[in-house]
Amino acid sequence: MKLGGQTLPNRLVLPPLTRSRAQDDGVPTPIMVEYYRQRAGAGLVISEGTVVSAQGASYARVPGLYSDAQVDGWRPVVAAARSCGAIVYAQLWHVGRQAHSSVQPDGCPPWGPSPVAITGWQYRSPHGRIPFEVPRELSEEAIAEIVAQFAVAARNAVAAGFDGVELHAANGYLFDQFLNSSSNRRTDRYGGSVENRLRFLHEVIDAVSAETRINRIGVRISPSSTWMDVFDPDKRGIYSELVRGISERGLAYLHLVEPGIAGSLDTNPQDGAIESAELGSLFDGPVIVTGGHTPRTAAAAVGAGSADLVGFGRLFIANPDLPRRIQAGAELADLRQKGLYGGGPAGYTDYPELQSSN
Ligand code: PHB
Repeated sequence: MKLGGQTLPNRLVLPPLTRSRAQDDGVPTPIMVEYYRQRAGAGLVISEGTVVSAQGASYARVPGLYSDAQVDGWRPVVAAARSCGAIVYAQLWHVGRQAHSSVQPDGCPPWGPSPVAITGWQYRSPHGRIPFEVPRELSEEAIAEIVAQFAVAARNAVAAGFDGVELHAANGYLFDQFLNSSSNRRTDRYGGSVENRLRFLHEVIDAVSAETRINRIGVRISPSSTWMDVFDPDKRGIYSELVRGISERGLAYLHLVEPGIAGSLDTNPQDGAIESAELGSLFDGPVIVTGGHTPRTAAAAVGAGSADLVGFGRLFIANPDLPRRIQAGAELADLRQKGLYGGGPAGYTDYPELQSSN
């Protein structure tokens, strides 16, 4: 399997997983080196969501790619992730209105396309769940600044040794907030028509492609998800147009969150869920599907030609040597909730590898 002109050792993907083990200033830590080294048997390793600026972060201890110290911190992590031949991408992330004033550099509400707060969900603060705030509406100048932040983060990713970058356009984060009409009420060139709502993504792709080749940029979307209050009467139209656009431009890959997933939760696919095979067929290049797969369903998806690569999140957390276990037909360990977000080695680097028989 080839991706961005590089050959992958296998079709298994370590998908982006927020684990909150960076320093408070977003610098990756030595324990992250160990975590990625343990999971280096994947064909493609995608980093946990990595923010392009402090204003783009919503949770504590999420890594960044906007300072020199962060770049230096990533180098050994990337080296560890590629120690078995994996291709390694950085997921670039701006959470938009999913942030909170308590974590904004200026202490003011977070930024979004329009002043519409998330309802039906709550912000995960260190002191428990609290309501989201009405975001500040981004001006065109502020949008241009964020586009530039993505470009700098991509340049930094290359400097840190990453092979490419994935733009996090899924799960109700900033790109998704522009795409869906429930969060985008703009009447300027970033709102209204599908073309306008896609403008921010394409401007970021333009800017990032000046830092890394276009075929080293992947895009992740969650076309069926309304997690974090992103609704639209025509999701099929929006995401089909998005996929056609990035296919024409020759991007590295399309990464689809399966319909049964809502952010970090399992969900019953809603009526009218958009099957990954449908959108994948619009993309002329590698398609990754992630969400709830077992080795068996993954093999079936690849066998049927509806996916080229399959991401395993929870299974990869609990089974650091997942590819070897699948190959050996070995039993798979279960995920523990404790230690998923933040803390030290417990629930992070203490999942054992399969004992080898020789
Ligand atoms: C999470 O931390 O729960 C989380 C982060 C990024 C996502 C989804 C969930 O895309």
